[in-house]
Amino acid sequence: MNTTLSSSAPSQLETDCLVVVVLDQSEKDQSKKDKPAITVESSDTAVREAAKDVVSSGEVTGKTFETTLLHRPAGLKAKRLLLVGGGKAKTFSAAELRKLAGAAVRTLKSKSIRSFAFVVPESAVPASQGVPAIVEGAFVGNFDPGYYKSDRNEKDQKIDALTIVVPGNAQGTQGDAKALENAMQAGRIVAESQNFTRDLVNEPSNRMTPTMMAERAKKMAAEVGLNCETYGADKIKQLKMGAFWGVAQGSDEPPALIVLRYDPVGAADKVHLGLVGKAVTFDTGGISIKPADGMEKMKYDMAGGATMIGVMRAIALLKPKVKVTAIICATENMPSGKAQKPGDVQIAMSGKSIEIINTDAEGRLVLADGLCYARQLGCTHLVDAATLTGAVVVALGYVNAGIFASDDQMYQRFANANKQAGEKMWRLPLDDEYKENLKSNIADMVNAGSRWGGAIFAAMFLKEFAEDTPWIHLDIAGTAWMEEAKPWIAKGPSGIALRSLVEFVKGWES
Ligand code: BES
Ligand code: MN
Ligand code: ZN
Repeated sequence: MNTTLSSSAPSQLETDCLVVVVLDQSEKDQSKKDKPAITVESSDTAVREAAKDVVSSGEVTGKTFETTLLHRPAGLKAKRLLLVGGGKAKTFSAAELRKLAGAAVRTLKSKSIRSFAFVVPESAVPASQGVPAIVEGAFVGNFDPGYYKSDRNEKDQKIDALTIVVPGNAQGTQGDAKALENAMQAGRIVAESQNFTRDLVNEPSNRMTPTMMAERAKKMAAEVGLNCETYGADKIKQLKMGAFWGVAQGSDEPPALIVLRYDPVGAADKVHLGLVGKAVTFDTGGISIKPADGMEKMKYDMAGGATMIGVMRAIALLKPKVKVTAIICATENMPSGKAQKPGDVQIAMSGKSIEIINTDAEGRLVLADGLCYARQLGCTHLVDAATLTGAVVVALGYVNAGIFASDDQMYQRFANANKQAGEKMWRLPLDDEYKENLKSNIADMVNAGSRWGGAIFAAMFLKEFAEDTPWIHLDIAGTAWMEEAKPWIAKGPSGIALRSLVEFVKGWES
């Protein structure tokens, strides 16, 4: 999708469709009898005039994602005018705007419209935030997961061109225009990286083996100028990654340890961020095999790793001055004659012994060694992302990802980044009391405990391997895959956590 900035008056723009946000200015607790007070978010009187009749008819309520399409709007050069509802003006922010842009894309592409212009609602969101938000939302909305449909090419309905309209820009200084152009390009990088991650996650396990994932990382790294090393079983054994290998040993597909390094000149040497991703390209559960119902979804069990690869892509292009290393532990989790069995004891890279109670609790095993390796490489702060537990879905549903943090200061930084990125996440606890559950009769710890507080147990287990290095764990099991389509996004891989992580990394820039 082509993206351009325009400073012309919206009414003068020749486009297939001009998209304008409408907001409801009425207060929350107003009595129901009152009509919503709708504003059409453009300073161009001709645009407001064109929308006037349909707005005063009461057809437009301003409700979030409500769309109203007008053809040949009077007084405008645009062929169509699309009004998209943004809900209450009071609570409208860049996060809502991002979703509206996605919803506009999805509405228009289903009508075979290929290009449109989106007017930045400047009185609600400043252009510096609005421009990247619109780009990000539009790219996310343009993603189509139907990769293997044989009629994909004929049916390929995508938006080719997006114009972002900031009319005030004309009076702005040259510097403002340049800053907005940069903001648009940055939004594009983040959005394309998010879709890059969704690409990887969308692939089924026969087309995204650990080896193929390593190849995709290598290819991306070469394109953006990142250092990428990929290793197989030999290196995993040589590093004594007994927990990672315990999972990998049951599969005929070789595992892959993917290391991506970003080390810019001028970065402070006291900060070295480590991003660790779970990339189980298919999770059968192993000998503790999962039920058949829904097992096909376990192709997305590599989403944490795919997210970290996507984050590194964005970082390499945005070039913040901070050292970052990503470690992705890729493997299948299979039952076989070579597979690990319940009761087996594995010695992790850190030297700690683990009694395997349930071979389906495999993500924490691969991450245990990934976190240890990141510390060995000198990372001063760790973040991991993983589709780790069904229990986080019980706790937070499909809405919020779970955040766990061992360090309040680091959490605060992440929370700020997360707010900027407009992704839904919620912090869960890591009290010492939970540590009891880790006890094993035979080894230092078990890999699985009781059903209760399962997401916390998994995080407590990981904490044993992050040790005293400040660490954040993101459990994205319920949010990495959209169970149903939403107005702004298709059913399928979501790319959750990438934007927050990119913001987080940028926040460390020295
Ligand atoms: N990959 C799963 C977690 C998962 C569940 C991801 C649902 C996406 C959607 C993980 O490896 C797993 O199987 N966890 C078990 C742990 C249990 C055996 C202690 C779980 O959550 O049931
Ligand atoms: Mn599992
Ligand atoms: Zn898993």
